[in-house]
Amino acid sequence: MQYRVPFVDPRAHYRNLKAEVDAAIMDCLTKGDLIMRQHLRDFEAHLASFVGVEHAVGVNSGYHALHFSLLAAGVGPGDEVITVGHTFVATVSAIVHCGATPVLVDVGRDYNLDPQFVEAKITARTKALLPVHLNGRVCEMDRILSIANEHGLAVIEDAAQTLGGSFNQKKAGSFGIAGCFSFYPFKILGGFGDGGAVTTNDAHLARTVRLLRYNGEDRETGEYHYHGYTALLDNVQAAVLDVKLRHLPQWIEHRRSIARLYREGLQGIGDLALPHFGEKSQFDVFQNYVVRTKQRDRLREHLKIAGIETLVHWPKPMWEHPGLGLSDPGLPETVRICQEVLSLPMSAETTPEHVSTTIQSIREFFD
Ligand SMILES: Cc1ncc(COP(=O)(O)O)c(C=O)c1O
Repeated sequence: MQYRVPFVDPRAHYRNLKAEVDAAIMDCLTKGDLIMRQHLRDFEAHLASFVGVEHAVGVNSGYHALHFSLLAAGVGPGDEVITVGHTFVATVSAIVHCGATPVLVDVGRDYNLDPQFVEAKITARTKALLPVHLNGRVCEMDRILSIANEHGLAVIEDAAQTLGGSFNQKKAGSFGIAGCFSFYPFKILGGFGDGGAVTTNDAHLARTVRLLRYNGEDRETGEYHYHGYTALLDNVQAAVLDVKLRHLPQWIEHRRSIARLYREGLQGIGDLALPHFGEKSQFDVFQNYVVRTKQRDRLREHLKIAGIETLVHWPKPMWEHPGLGLSDPGLPETVRICQEVLSLPMSAETTPEHVSTTIQSIREFFD
């Protein structure tokens, strides 16, 4: 179906960057630079500097960024890792694939880990906290770090949705021992395929992730240090991401201005709750613009008929998928969220006209 207001627009995105992106790809291809070459090293250096850490290591997905960070932090069988129930399944799968047990806690009204629920879940087996900065908003990292310090736990940030977001002027991915990013095409910084990265100030952790992503091999010496994986960020993807990273500050400002327009047009309508939670400490980058209403399904249908594309992240709690083998952790807010949230069109290509069409249609629905 062709939407009047698409959720994202990858063709327009490419058109707007064509000259720069084509040049970067051609540079890799003409040089024959495909695996672990200068483009990857450059992108890693630029990403580390953007996030404000010493090291960034490119991998082939946000999932692998999480999996490798957990392994490098020593998470393994018998350990427990505390994270949220309201997240993309990959956060939890990464814990499971380390042989550890995910312990799920509830989120607050801003969809992020509510620190008040964490301490009750800490046991002698707890090894790490895995806060997820959802929708472009950083968690309350001061409270999370203080709980972690008190109990001697590692903090690994799932920052897949929040590159560029900050808390008390410190960027997502720079708080814990590792920050995990995704460059899935529709992320705030998206490649032309899968990609991800780990950011860290810990040189040992960075080296471990570098070994894990390439079969455990130290490329300098040829020594295999352990059984690893094949999970590199491709050099061509890195070259494209490096081009796009230069545009990121401007895209973040664009997303924030689109969010302001939604806010102006949608305030005070019916039971619609908007994603503005006070910005004293947080700088939100609006990976997603998530509204909430008890009439979510009917509103979504109304918008679809009007040619406006929306998404639901996510329609049912992950423990209701029997294949995942998770027991019901009893998280009432996460359950309500699944019934009520709706993500409105939001990308670097979303225009003020798209927003006013969407606002008008939402107003019609509630009238
Ligand atoms: C919160 C969160 N964590 C992890 C991931 C996994 O990233 P990827 O799809 O690159 O593996 C995503 C991406 O969809 C995500 O949104």
